[in-house]
Amino acid sequence: MAVLRFPENDRKIENESEIREELASLGIDYERWSLDRVGADASAEDVLTAYVREINEMKRRGGYVTADVIDVNPATPNLDAMLARFDKEHTHSEDEVRFILAGRGIFFLNIKGKVASVEVGPGDMLRVPKGTTHWFTLCEDRRIRAIRWFQQTSGWTPEYTQSGVDKNYQPLCFGPTYMGPRVETSIRV
Ligand SMILES: [Fe+2]
Repeated sequence: MAVLRFPENDRKIENESEIREELASLGIDYERWSLDRVGADASAEDVLTAYVREINEMKRRGGYVTADVIDVNPATPNLDAMLARFDKEHTHSEDEVRFILAGRGIFFLNIKGKVASVEVGPGDMLRVPKGTTHWFTLCEDRRIRAIRWFQQTSGWTPEYTQSGVDKNYQPLCFGPTYMGPRVETSIRV
């Protein structure tokens, strides 16, 4: 279950339909999907097979041509460097679409000068449209497993805004795995 926060006025929303409505008003799709299709130890291939209906429906909705499963944990090689690519404000030339299977992370969205953070966890589907200024980081257990959709097969890269806005927000997670303040990544790009 997600947690939506507006740091500006310290507003926190944890109700599913309210989160969906608030995010929809910002142009962000948020849905809750069932997690009971696969076990926690299912392979990426099994996950893609089990969720083929949702994957194909999402492809139809957004013109995505491919989907994969990303799996990140504290043992992932070069994890700090990977996280440092995405924890600065940036945009993409295509949508960022994630269905979270395991772990937790925070998307910060900077829309029309207003910053909102969405902490996502298992069962949350978030679709951030292309061009949306945002940044992302993992919660303290540095773990996430998610299905991703892509509009191009060539992959996608962040385009940094260099605004520095991201430095003004402490990415604290409040969900089930909350374990205290986040450890800052050590590598800066
Ligand atoms: Fe991104």
